[in-house]
Amino acid sequence: MTGDQAHANDALQQAAEWLATAERVAVLTGAGISRESGVPTFRDAQEGLWARYDPMELASPEGFRRDPALVWRWYEWRRALVGRAQPNPGHGALVRLEALVPYLTVITQNVDGLHHAAGSRNLVELHGNLQRFKCFERGHLVPAELLSTDERVPPCCPQCGALVRPDVVWFGEMLPEVALRQARDEVAAAEVLLVVGTSGLVQPAASLPLVAVEAGARSIEINPDRTALTPHLDLHLSGPAGRILPALVDAVAARTTRK
Ligand code: OAD
Repeated sequence: MTGDQAHANDALQQAAEWLATAERVAVLTGAGISRESGVPTFRDAQEGLWARYDPMELASPEGFRRDPALVWRWYEWRRALVGRAQPNPGHGALVRLEALVPYLTVITQNVDGLHHAAGSRNLVELHGNLQRFKCFERGHLVPAELLSTDERVPPCCPQCGALVRPDVVWFGEMLPEVALRQARDEVAAAEVLLVVGTSGLVQPAASLPLVAVEAGARSIEINPDRTALTPHLDLHLSGPAGRILPALVDAVAARTTRK
């Protein structure tokens, strides 16, 4: 084992020790945890979602007003992509961890629904979900099955006739109030915070790890790269979530006597 490998193993074992003895754990995830499910991240230059598009054109109320059909079709493309994606071992490891610690919450910025599909139950979706729909004017929730019979692009709200949009947070929009309050409460109460696959650039999600650290939590980051959050966190486990998380949870399981 090289020096770097030994150092990485020491960090992973330290992280496992903290998790195995924690009563409350909060996990903040970003697009990186879904990368190994084949879902592009946002800011990876080569193949990120934003690499070919101007995010303000596609993920903002102004962009939707300007060209609702373009925005609707972009989200249809993302829904089809996500529809073919399966949770990867990183998502599965978090489900295992939820069973190993007394209380664990997954707080995700992702809108792909893969944590829910993997079996995470204590889940907060900060930025909404691609598979949910609402009307642009009044926020009426629109059941997906009603859309399949509406040929218009975008379809129209059955309650008020307004254009339908995905129930996801767009640039310049507020996050769902209940979800944000729950996320803040969870990170403030956590003894250990795990940050997986986020560049830590988008507020208010990017501030959540700092709330946890200021409240005294031990903090662990899993990411192939260093990020804006790395300097504020205790440990950085470098590598893809699909490999690091299963190894970490194996080390937690080896330590915990909990059934
Ligand atoms: P980004 O694309 O900004 O960052 C993805 C992060 O994942 C980067 O730090 C990568 O290094 C890391 N990464 C890549 N592959 C990975 C892997 N296999 N395992 C672990 N990490 C990996 O995506 P987010 O930080 O999630 O907001 O972006 C935050 C928000 O910005 C998104 O939720 C979206 C966007 O605007 C909304 O949609 C409101």
